[in-house]
Amino acid sequence: MAEVILKDIVKVYGRQVAVRGIDLEIEDGSLVVFVGPSGCGKSTTLRMIAGLETISHGELIIGGKLANDLPSRERGVAMVFQTYALYPHMTVRDNLAFSLKLAKLTKAEIDARIAKAVAVLELGPYLDRRPSQLSGGQRQRVAMGRAIVREPQVFLFDEPLSNLDAKLRNQMRVEIKRLQRQLGVTTIYVTHDQVEAMTLGDKIVVMKDGEIAQQGSTLEIFERPRNKFVAGFIGSPQMSFFEGKLMRRDGGWLFDSGPLQLPVIAEHYGDALVEGRHVYAGLRAEDIVPLGHGMQPVNFVAAEGEVTLTEMLGNENLLFGTIAGLNFVSRMQQPRVVELNERLSFHINVARMHLFDRETEQNLKVA
Ligand SMILES: Nc1ncnc2c1ncn2[C@@H]1O[C@H](COP(=O)(O)OP(=O)(O)O)[C@@H](O)[C@H]1O
Ligand SMILES: [Mg+2]
Repeated sequence: MAEVILKDIVKVYGRQVAVRGIDLEIEDGSLVVFVGPSGCGKSTTLRMIAGLETISHGELIIGGKLANDLPSRERGVAMVFQTYALYPHMTVRDNLAFSLKLAKLTKAEIDARIAKAVAVLELGPYLDRRPSQLSGGQRQRVAMGRAIVREPQVFLFDEPLSNLDAKLRNQMRVEIKRLQRQLGVTTIYVTHDQVEAMTLGDKIVVMKDGEIAQQGSTLEIFERPRNKFVAGFIGSPQMSFFEGKLMRRDGGWLFDSGPLQLPVIAEHYGDALVEGRHVYAGLRAEDIVPLGHGMQPVNFVAAEGEVTLTEMLGNENLLFGTIAGLNFVSRMQQPRVVELNERLSFHINVARMHLFDRETEQNLKVA
């Protein structure tokens, strides 16, 4: 087990900068998830930690040792890929034993390690099968088994569940978390799926364009997104954003989009409130409450909205539409069927509103 530290890690491919200065400390025994849109540099960062890519600049420290120039096999890391990368002509047992034989472990040691992995992964019945005779979930488990038998200091997962169907993916996600807790091995997990990230990670690292947009716990990132990108990326359905500007009114402040005006609770935004400043107001679906369907906010503004699309999920109905010409999505609790083009009253929870600067897209909320 080991702590992993990245200091200003950069990866350059020719003239393209894929990773532009990652600073990160991953605590011993913790599970950290890298999440972000396709192409933001998650896999490249992971592959640099694994030793599958050279590091252009910066320092990688694994277990207190500078690892930049260590060959992959001396880093104590084991990687699990989306494609499993199993040897098709070998049985499960041989797939598990392969790297251990290569490392010249004794037969007794190999058998002991395989027995242990097989027990935690419940692979006992499949040891003599070949990968083609296994389901996707079982193959994924063998791939994890191959990582476990190596007894690494660090597990690296690159979108390991992307090839599985939704139900199996949820099941395997729970299993990976349980396994990680049980083994206590420092783990870095890459995914583009924000739900996977939020449910899995002790810490989430949100990446964008080769940089860390924000790192923190699920709740920290959900409650205090640093900028509009993170606010929009984390949380489902997506936060609604309204364009407008700040305005003084009767000694207080308003967010003004023209047709829609929302009171601004001044102490939430410190000295960011400047007359005429162009901003986005950000509201999560649960903070735009259909009248009578959810807890009524303490500080609210009532507004009429028109619903143009619904997603009935049984326990809730997601309502998409417009309020004063602005696109929004609202979460309707204790749902009922809402007709197309139906007009409803909504209570907008202004205490939960975020304000983002239109230029920098930084969150102006300080409290
Ligand atoms: N071997 C490579 N050569 C050149 N560019 C690459 C290579 N691998 C990745 N890239 C580029 O680096 C960026 C980050 O890629 P990647 O780390 O795979 O993103 P992610 O895993 O987040 O989807 C992308 O723009 C990608 O095109
Ligand atoms: Mg990738």
